[in-house]
Amino acid sequence: MKYQAVVFDLDGTLTDSVHGVIRSTRYALEKMNWPVPDDKMLRGFLGPPLATSFMEYCGMSNAQAIEGTRLYRERYNTIGWRENAVFPGIRQLLWALKRQGAYLSVATGKPQNASERILEYFGMTDYFNQIAGPTPDDFFANKRDLIDRSLGGQNRGKTIMIGDRASDIIAAHEHGIDSVAVLFGYGSRDEMTQSRPTYLAENVIDLFDILGVSYPEFPGYFISLEGNDGCGKSTQTALLVDWMKAGGYDLVRTREPGGSEVAEKIRHLLLDRENMGMQDMTEALLYAAARAQHVRDVIMPALSNGKVVISDRYVDSSIAYQGAGRQLGMDVVEQINAPAINGCLPNVTLLLRMGAQEALHRRESASQVDRIEMMDNDFHKRVEQAFDQLAKQHPARIAPIDASGGIEDIAQRIRLTVHDKMRKAGMY
Ligand code: TYD
Repeated sequence: MKYQAVVFDLDGTLTDSVHGVIRSTRYALEKMNWPVPDDKMLRGFLGPPLATSFMEYCGMSNAQAIEGTRLYRERYNTIGWRENAVFPGIRQLLWALKRQGAYLSVATGKPQNASERILEYFGMTDYFNQIAGPTPDDFFANKRDLIDRSLGGQNRGKTIMIGDRASDIIAAHEHGIDSVAVLFGYGSRDEMTQSRPTYLAENVIDLFDILGVSYPEFPGYFISLEGNDGCGKSTQTALLVDWMKAGGYDLVRTREPGGSEVAEKIRHLLLDRENMGMQDMTEALLYAAARAQHVRDVIMPALSNGKVVISDRYVDSSIAYQGAGRQLGMDVVEQINAPAINGCLPNVTLLLRMGAQEALHRRESASQVDRIEMMDNDFHKRVEQAFDQLAKQHPARIAPIDASGGIEDIAQRIRLTVHDKMRKAGMY
C-alpha cells in the first residue's frame, strides 16, 4: 500500500448521485421561475458548493443562491438523496484499503448530515475514520478546510485525495498532498487534466493500481427470504435487491423452487395444478432435487466468486411446507435436504411474519394461485407455526421481520437487519 491515508470526495467519486442532484436543482430553479439550463450544464452542479454554481451558471445574486440551495434541499432531503448508487468496485476498494489498515476519510461539499445519511443508508460509514462535510448554513465551504477536518487536523502519514472535480485537486495541492482525478465522475477530462493531479484514473480498477492494493477476495454472502404465501416476500425481495445493487454489491438474485435451468423444469412439475395426484413424499423429494441442482449450478459458484446471493425461498420452505404443512415431519424433510444443500446454509434468513388472517386475505385476493397456494387454511397455519419454530431453533441465522404495515416500513426493517448481520459478520 503506497498511502497511509486516503481522502475521498463523495458525489461523483464514491457515489453516482447525478439523478438526485439534477432533479433537485431543476426543482429549485422551477420554483424560482428561473430559466433551467440543459442537463449537460446541470451536471456541472455536482461537486462545488451549490450556491457557487447557482451564481456562476445561473447568474444569481448571493441571496438568490442561498434561496436556491434552500429549495434544492426541500426535494433533495426527501427524495433526491436516495436517487444515488455506489460506483461498482468502490465497496471492494474500501474493503481492501480498510483491511490493510489505511486511514480513510470523506471530505465532501455536501452537508455533513446529508453525507452521513447516504453513507449509512448504503452501509458504508464503518469504512471511514472521519466524514467531513459543511454545516447546513455554510453555503460556500472551502474544500481545503474539509480535507483538514477529515484528517482530524493531524498528519496521517503519506496522504492522497481522490476526487472528480478540479476543486478537489486544487484543495489537495493547497494541502500539499498527492491527488487522483477520477474520470468516471462529473468533471470533464479537460477540467481534470488542467488541475494537474498526481494521477488520472479512468475507472475504479485504476484506483487499485494507483493506491497499490489488489482487488480483494470479497467473501460471499447468502441471504434467503422466507414466509407464508401472501406475506409480500416477492415485493420485498425486489426492493432488497435494488438497494444492495445501488450499494455496490455484486449480486445474484434467484428463487426456489427453480433458479437454474433444470430446477425450473422441476418447478413447473411442482406448481402445475394438473398434478393433483402427486404424493407428498414425491413433492418433498422434488423440492430437494430442484434445490440440489440450484445450489450446485448457481448458489455455490456465486458465493465462491464473492457475490451476494439473494434467494426468494430456500430450504426452510421445505421444512415448513412439506415437513409441517404436508405433515411429513420437519426432521424427515431436513434429512432429505441435507445431501441436497451439502452444508450450504444462508448467512441470514429473513423471515417475513404476517398475521395468518392478513396473509389469508392477501392470498384470497391473488388472481392466480398455484397447487401449494390453494391448500386450506390449516395447512398455511401449520406452515406459519413451523417457520416460527425454525426461527427459535436458529436464532443466529433466522431473523423474524414484522411484515405488517407499509411497504417502505418493512423494507427499512429489512435493511436495518441486513446491515446489522453483515456488520457482525465482518462484511464491512
Ligand atoms: P412461488 O410462486 O415461487 O412462491 P411465492 O408465493 O412465495 O412467491 O411458489 C412457491 C410455492 O412453493 C409456495 O407456495 C411455497 C412452495 N414451496 C414449498 O412448498 N416447498 C419448498 O421447498 C419451496 C422452496 C417452496
